Amino acid sequence: MSELDLPEVLAIDRAGLIDGLASSVETFDQARAGAEALDIPFSPDVVKDVLICGMGGSAIAGDLVTTLYYERLRRPVQVHRGYYLPGWAGADTLHLLLSYSGETEETLTAAMQALERESPALGVTSGGKIESWYGEHGVPVLKIPGGLQPRMALLHMLVPTVVFMSRLGIIPEQTADLDAARDAIGAAIDAYGPDRPTEANTAKQLALRLADGVPLIYGSEVTAGIANRWKCQFNENAKQPSFHAILPELNHNEIVGFEQAGAFGDMARVVILKDPRQHRQIERRIALTREIIKPGVADIITLEGEGDTPLARLMDLVILGDYVSLYAACLRRVDPEPVDSIGTLKQGLATTGNQRLQAGESGSI
Ligand code: F6R
Repeated sequence: MSELDLPEVLAIDRAGLIDGLASSVETFDQARAGAEALDIPFSPDVVKDVLICGMGGSAIAGDLVTTLYYERLRRPVQVHRGYYLPGWAGADTLHLLLSYSGETEETLTAAMQALERESPALGVTSGGKIESWYGEHGVPVLKIPGGLQPRMALLHMLVPTVVFMSRLGIIPEQTADLDAARDAIGAAIDAYGPDRPTEANTAKQLALRLADGVPLIYGSEVTAGIANRWKCQFNENAKQPSFHAILPELNHNEIVGFEQAGAFGDMARVVILKDPRQHRQIERRIALTREIIKPGVADIITLEGEGDTPLARLMDLVILGDYVSLYAACLRRVDPEPVDSIGTLKQGLATTGNQRLQAGESGSI
């Protein structure tokens, strides 16, 4: 028994984000059905490469998919976060625009440029200008339900990204993988949900270890995107500083920082996300990294997702991270839902920002 088993502690989550995760299997089905039914008016043959454009909780779907399928990608795929598209993006580049609100400035700018370059495009949004501009220009838009925090709409972004990439031949056929992932989501909700007491609940146990420190989330290959997701969920749900880094790269820099970490070392809680499919040298690197950084950090935890396929294990770890960050919010006595700093920043940009964006005109800024 811990305080996370007390309803009054979980009630800090006023908007019910923890309870909302319980409907993830239904969300998965809805997102999959919508993406499978969307009419794609261009042939897979016109797509030579792919840009997945988005920011924050929407863009993370692109990271998860590209790192998960990296070795099985049949065309170059890049996640684009920012304003200017790369010079190489052109009429044979598929632009997959992910924006929950449909109003994010950077993503709208990328969308304008994709229209100008006459690129094949698809949008996923709950509305906003992505829906209206793209609708006007005949670009297929998958409309997803509104009223959620973008980061809590991950399955509405992730599942269509997998389905579209599979339908366009950018990754192999994913029917069996998607079925296994659906099962993994159900199992994760059961294992990590609020009804399971702390002594039998890995998510609650992890929250208790991580809520009062700085979680440093390390991933590699198929877990690289998941590490970023965990970091962002700690930031936005638990209002907690958190950072992520990727193996093997962090072996060439970050580990040295723990030689003289000082007070930061007392705060540092390292979480290493593993996968059985990773290169065997990654396994060796994880063991050596643990040894080397151990004197300089307060805690090191190694985790591996449950499931028979990479997508199933990804879903398990993503849902685990969502629950851990939400429980951490409750332990820190902060409501996980609001993200005031993001709102303040977006408002500041809107008052000084590009007039054409505000007017909903197309064209680059
Ligand atoms: C908020 C969140 C943010 C947004 C980001 C982009 O829950 O996760 O990171 O995702 O500000 O906004 P959208 O997703 O509407 O394009």
